Amino acid sequence: MAPRSLIAGNWKMNGLRASAAEVEDLKARMGVGAVNCDVLICPPATLIGTVASAAGGSVIATGGQDCHPAKSGAHTGDISAQMIADMGGSFVIVGHSERRSDHGEDDGLVNAKAKAVLDEGLIAIICVGETEAERDAGRTIEVVTGQIQGSLPEGGTAANTVIAYEPVWAIGTGRTPTTDDVAETHAAIRAELKLRLGSEGDGVRILYGGSVKPSNAAELLSVPDVNGALVGGASLKASDFWGIIAACP
Ligand code: PGA
Repeated sequence: MAPRSLIAGNWKMNGLRASAAEVEDLKARMGVGAVNCDVLICPPATLIGTVASAAGGSVIATGGQDCHPAKSGAHTGDISAQMIADMGGSFVIVGHSERRSDHGEDDGLVNAKAKAVLDEGLIAIICVGETEAERDAGRTIEVVTGQIQGSLPEGGTAANTVIAYEPVWAIGTGRTPTTDDVAETHAAIRAELKLRLGSEGDGVRILYGGSVKPSNAAELLSVPDVNGALVGGASLKASDFWGIIAACP
């Protein structure tokens, strides 16, 4: 049986305290127990507490967009998985391509961050994805499976680990791979997870991310081995995010 889908919003560096209104709006649209999928919002660190309290009483979970591998210490500007949990977060995105490119994060560091998330009892969303040059060179599967081998920590299970496949060239560009391409890459990710985790690998959710919006969500979410979406721009407005949640099969 396919795992329950997860629709995760990644607000990136967007949002102020007033953005709690979007969470209230989403809550109202979702009603009580009417959705087919799990729903998550990952706001900037400054808003984790705000979003967690606005989401209170609903099934909307809250998460962080990054964390340091250590629990605490002399790391100016960083936050830990423990701090995210303390603010009401239950998920942490690690290894997003913007972290990998803007901050030079490699698989080893992403692995350590994911391990810190699991050690805290939270769920890690580990991001992988090829650049346009890698895709043009026919290296998509090799790059993505290599990132999983390097970034998936010991102790990863279907319950505490989610993989997000986000082609770097599709993020924020309005471009998406064909559904055949998404199916091929997700199948390769599933095979890699089963190699590593055995039958447990069948239960790990594999999200697609990159220019998901209400108008293409139903098509992308119906691809085999797509168990939800990681949504950037279209997660900022409750009306758009709801359009994607409602498209969940
Ligand atoms: P996008 O971003 O939906 O704006 O393309 C997705 C992501 O980077 O998680």
